[in-house]
Amino acid sequence: MIKDSANQLLLAFESSLVLNGNGHRCEPLFAGVDLGTAYTVTAVVDAAGAPVAGALTRSRSSVRDGLVLDYVSAIGIVRQQVKLLHEAGFHITSAAAAYPPGTTGRNAQTFANVLAAAGLQVSGLIDEPTAASLVLEIADGAVVDIGGGTTGISVIRNGEVVYTADEATGGIHVDLVIAGHYKISTDEAERMKTDSQQQSTLFPLVRPVFQKMASIVRHHLQQHPVVSLYLVGGTSCFPGIEQVMEMETGLSVERPVTPLLVTPLGIALSCLKTERKESGRMGKTR
Ligand SMILES: Nc1ncnc2c1ncn2[C@@H]1O[C@H](COP(=O)(O)OP(=O)(O)OP(=O)(O)O)[C@@H](O)[C@H]1O
Ligand SMILES: [Mg+2]
Repeated sequence: MIKDSANQLLLAFESSLVLNGNGHRCEPLFAGVDLGTAYTVTAVVDAAGAPVAGALTRSRSSVRDGLVLDYVSAIGIVRQQVKLLHEAGFHITSAAAAYPPGTTGRNAQTFANVLAAAGLQVSGLIDEPTAASLVLEIADGAVVDIGGGTTGISVIRNGEVVYTADEATGGIHVDLVIAGHYKISTDEAERMKTDSQQQSTLFPLVRPVFQKMASIVRHHLQQHPVVSLYLVGGTSCFPGIEQVMEMETGLSVERPVTPLLVTPLGIALSCLKTERKESGRMGKTR
């Protein structure tokens, strides 16, 4: 079960995305930036871990399949978000970055480099599923992150990611099916797909894409059995996807209230966690 406290935290973050220029100025602030294929989201929490602000921008292909493809536009988006947050009274100067599951070495470091180039001090670099598990408070299970470009599976045991995979089927593929069927652009298909009034009509059409995502999950979990799946990422918002996952995998499937916001909030919380650890260590050496 997803804890009520996790859902409440997510709802608080969702309402903090409406920046109204009345920043709490409740420093210190801890920020996390999630650079994704479809959206870039910055989350800001206070010293108690409560969400206080956030910014969400459609990022359009600056990141794809776990790689930063358009470095300059990714930097531009982060800079713009930092500016917006400053104008609203949230003076963030540092933030943690995150990389998709399976990204290693220099490719993972690039996610931190984008933040540094946007003028932020990089306070940490964490993998996305670990960030998600901090919000959902999962010690054991699989985080299934269905984003814009990919479906990521990460198996968590005793709070640690022990297996991870990311395959290229995501929201873009759902858009392509809708666009092909109605002979419309993918932008129009995206609008239809995210319109809650149209989702039940679209469901039979897009179900095969969800089945494909579920088969990816089932395949990867064959060697790494778990009891529960936790759905995160924007595509997990589509009503009915959780039933498809449940039927195809035979596992119990949990979905938080705002799947799209889990990872960014977790990145910000990881930043606070690091700070607490460091101040605890300094306290001990004093
Ligand atoms: N309400 C909704 N219903 C269905 N799909 C949605 C909804 N809201 C967002 N999406 C889809 O979620 C996707 C973006 O999710 P997310 O922000 O998790 O991806 P990302 O992190 O940018 O991509 P990736 O993880 O693949 O790099 C888009 O394809 C978008 O169309
Ligand atoms: Mg993502």
